[in-house]
Amino acid sequence: MPCDMRSSTRGFRRYYNPDVGDAVRMDTNTNVLGSNPAATRFLKEFKGEINDYPNTYSDGLRDALAELYGLNRENFVAGSGSDELLDISFKTFTEWGDWAAVPVPSYTLYDYFVKMNGGSVNEVDLTEDFQIDVDAFVSTGSKIMIAPSPNNPTGNCFRQKDLEELLVRFDGVVIVDEAYAEYSGKGMIGKVNEFDNLIVLRTFSKAYAMAGLRVGYAAACEDLADKMNKVKIPYSLNMVSEGAAIAALKDQDFIGRSVDLVKKERPVLTKGLKKLGFEPFPSDSNFILMRSPVDHACLVNGLKEKGVLIRDFGSKRRTENCVRTTVGTRELNDLLLERAGEVIEDCRSK
Ligand SMILES: Cc1ncc(COP(=O)(O)O)c(C=O)c1O
Repeated sequence: MPCDMRSSTRGFRRYYNPDVGDAVRMDTNTNVLGSNPAATRFLKEFKGEINDYPNTYSDGLRDALAELYGLNRENFVAGSGSDELLDISFKTFTEWGDWAAVPVPSYTLYDYFVKMNGGSVNEVDLTEDFQIDVDAFVSTGSKIMIAPSPNNPTGNCFRQKDLEELLVRFDGVVIVDEAYAEYSGKGMIGKVNEFDNLIVLRTFSKAYAMAGLRVGYAAACEDLADKMNKVKIPYSLNMVSEGAAIAALKDQDFIGRSVDLVKKERPVLTKGLKKLGFEPFPSDSNFILMRSPVDHACLVNGLKEKGVLIRDFGSKRRTENCVRTTVGTRELNDLLLERAGEVIEDCRSK
């Protein structure tokens, strides 16, 4: 059939797209302090010439990142969300038919990007405490692997020594996805010149509170970054988002406040969740994965009806009956706990 989808994409379904309405969003792990203030100011004052193309490789943003991390512009690739950088990584370093090692559980879209680029997924289970089993990953013989730290949806960081062992023992590219690294205070970005097979991915969507502007980047040794820049769609990061990201990088106070809020509220929320019968897993991030005391779908749907969105992972292997919530402000967390208490009662009486 001339209109068939490419064979590697035929099983695809559309991505998560809830009917949000007026609901409170605790389902996307974005920053609960609201839009990034420096980026918002930049947008209000923007007088750029939108008739021009943006800089081809977002040099202004790459220079600002180089300054922040003590690296060079040529260590960076900038794009439209870290999702684009995932896509570029597979496009650059895999051939049609290659295998990619992907942890279970982890970010839903890894599978999508591997398959979209003609690859196959080697699912590798994390250990009981959601850590990496280095032998299991290495023995897959994959061409490329991905290690998100902190991991989503589990929330925990992998051990630095395991990541470094992976980088040494694995004969291929290792993508360390650090979308939530600001919250954990840990990361591998300082190691990109030490390991010639390391790609670190970061985003402005979470702690930087700019998900709507779609800015992400990869850091790697100059050789890998150059290869990725050659493959990336030129101009994929628009000039407005690039300028806003540069402005946001200059306001590290906001990032500090955002991280402090999560560190303060996470234990309080965890305690409240336990009181309701949830079994939360330890988190190094701005979200918590937890096993639900009642049926996961009943809980998530009931909360949605009461105006609070959380994310359902309960039908997936290794996260059976689990749900994930963003850590909110005290007010948001209290609202979640109050509504969850009511919904649990409702689900039990059904
Ligand atoms: C682990 C992980 N990686 C990447 C992304 C994508 O982030 P971006 O908005 O930069 O595309 C997300 C978004 O939720 C994520 O959780």
